[in-house]
Amino acid sequence: MNKDIPEISLQRLPVYLNYLRSLTDEDGKYISSGAIASALKLGEVLVRKDLAYTSSAGRPKVGYVRTELIAALEEYLGCNDIKNAILVGAGGLGSALLAYGGFGKYGIQVVEAYDSDPEKVGSVVGGKHVLSVSDIPNGIKQHNAKLAVVAVPAQAAQAVCDMLFNCGIKGILNFAPVFITSPENVVVRNIDVAANLAILASMI
Ligand code: NAI
Repeated sequence: MNKDIPEISLQRLPVYLNYLRSLTDEDGKYISSGAIASALKLGEVLVRKDLAYTSSAGRPKVGYVRTELIAALEEYLGCNDIKNAILVGAGGLGSALLAYGGFGKYGIQVVEAYDSDPEKVGSVVGGKHVLSVSDIPNGIKQHNAKLAVVAVPAQAAQAVCDMLFNCGIKGILNFAPVFITSPENVVVRNIDVAANLAILASMI
C-alpha cells in the first residue's frame, strides 16, 4: 500500500468511500472509474490515479468490484481500526459534534469531552461525559487518544492545543478561527465553514 499520497488525493478518498457506500446491490457488482468520475464530477484519470493509491486494481472493461474497492478504501483510511479521540470545548459547536454519529464510519470514537466551565463539567452531551480540563492528561492516557477536536474560543485555542501536544495528541481538528503553532510531529487541520462559504461564493 502506498502511503505517499498527495494530500489533495487523500482528501478525495473519503468522498469516493461515501459515494460507493451509498450504492446498493441493485447498482451492480462492478463500478468503473468513469462511473465514479461522472457521479462525482471529477476527471476519470484523476479518479483512477487516486484509487491506485489504495492498491485496489480495476479490471479492464468492467472496472472495480464495488465491495473490494470499499474494503480497500476502508483499509487505507484506517476505518477498521478504532481510534479514540477527545473533544475540548463542549459549547454550541462542540455539543453538536458530540451528538454527531458519523465519526464511527471512519473508525473514530469520540470518547470524552472536556470544558473549563464548571457548569458543564459533569454533564453528559451526546452520550459523552464532559469532564474538567484538569482531567485531560489522565483521559488521554487512559483512552490512548491520539486525536483531538478543539472547539474552544479563539483566545483559548493555542493554550489548549499546547496542553494536548504535551499530553501526546498527534492530530488536532481545530475549529477555532486562529492559526495554531504546532510541533513538527503533530498535524493540525483547521476547519472553517465561513471561509469555505466565502470560497463557494467566489466560485458562483
Ligand atoms: P461556545 O462559546 O458555545 O463554546 C465554547 C466552549 O469552550 C464553552 O463551553 C467554553 O466553556 C469552552 N472553553 C472556553 N475556554 C476553554 C478552555 N480553555 N478549555 C476548555 N474549554 C474551554 O462557542 P461555539 O459557538 O461552540 O464555538 C466554538 C469555537 O468554534 C469558537 O472558536 C468559534 O469561533 C468556532 N467556530 C468555528 C466554526 C468553523 O466553521 N470553524 C463554526 C462555528 C464556531
